[in-house]
Amino acid sequence: MDRIKKTKIIKVNIDDNKSNQQLIKEAGMILKSGGLVAFPTETVYGLGADALNESAAKQTYTAKGRPSDNPLIIHIASYECLEHIVEDIPEKAHKVAEKFWPGPLTMVFGKSEIVPYGTTGGLETVAVRMPDHPVAQAVIEAGGGYISAPSANSSGRPSPTLASHVYEDMNEKIEMIVDGGEVEIGVESTILDMTVDPPMILRPGSITKEMIEDVIGKIQVDSTVMNAQSDEAPKAPGMKYRHYAPKAKLVIIDGEFDDIVKAMIKVTGESVDRDQKVGIISSLEGTPFYSNGNIKCVGSRYDKGAIAHNLYRVLREFDEEDVECIYSEAFDSNGIGMATMNRLKKAAGQTVVQATEILQK
Ligand code: TXA
Ligand code: MG
Repeated sequence: MDRIKKTKIIKVNIDDNKSNQQLIKEAGMILKSGGLVAFPTETVYGLGADALNESAAKQTYTAKGRPSDNPLIIHIASYECLEHIVEDIPEKAHKVAEKFWPGPLTMVFGKSEIVPYGTTGGLETVAVRMPDHPVAQAVIEAGGGYISAPSANSSGRPSPTLASHVYEDMNEKIEMIVDGGEVEIGVESTILDMTVDPPMILRPGSITKEMIEDVIGKIQVDSTVMNAQSDEAPKAPGMKYRHYAPKAKLVIIDGEFDDIVKAMIKVTGESVDRDQKVGIISSLEGTPFYSNGNIKCVGSRYDKGAIAHNLYRVLREFDEEDVECIYSEAFDSNGIGMATMNRLKKAAGQTVVQATEILQK
């Protein structure tokens, strides 16, 4: 790692792939020689390495400070690449790919021999995704077609939705950051395990259970996704870690909206009385009611996409502002809301308090 002096940042224009060609070529050369390049996808920024090169994969773990039993997702840019890295492609996977690839969906398959255990964290299975972002696709192709890319954050921090977030975590640890502006979705891809029948969602994302069921019928959801209190270990190894965590203590307040607002006013008032620096993660509808602390609005309660889009950025902003305690409204957990609430609960270490309980005290 000590051969990297300063991380190079290159800005690309998402609509102008032609003038990006030279820059992308440079990124491809770094990847092919075993180096690390962060790049934008439609979900979050990824930390790219040659997925078929075990030592490149190892470098990824070092740069992120990530436990080596937590496998990487291999990113491809064309469907033909899939058959080289997986053992067999079930009929349902063809259908899912036809509908959702390229896009924010990852599928888990039995791995083929060419995929090193260094990439799969020692597993016999491999996670594969084809992102729907022109810059990501160009970088993958330039890098040889098989690029492992975990989210480009230090392990335990919120995933990066801006190139500046990647820089905060990865400067001097990786060769290059390809800056393609702010990402579109803001939470990581849905992970669907195709090695079981019916297939199982291991991590919720913007492609929802209902959307997948419309294509292949009934699927399952890993029971730990919305109930992390359960004694079972999550089936995606990475989901067991206290990911996405802000530095401050985070508490989620759940219940009817009116009660949430009243409870938020009460607890933030008490924090301020204790001279605590307090933060609020608020909806557009809640914002006018709050006056204590540092209030950050993530969007309307009726716009689940906006809340998903803004959550990680807001958590990172709170880290910079050194708040000691953050209270967040709970949001709708339907559709993409399942991904948002899954990540928010992880960030809170599963601390969810009912508004009515707070109001009774
Ligand atoms: O949207 C995304 O998927 C982003 C962008 C960059 O594409 N990538 C991403 O990668 O979120 P990462 O490494 O931060 O998260 C990958 C998750 C981890 O929870 C890991 O345990 C799980 O995928 N995973 C990877 N391979 C797996 C496998 N073979 N079986 C089960 N889970 C797997
Ligand atoms: Mg991650």
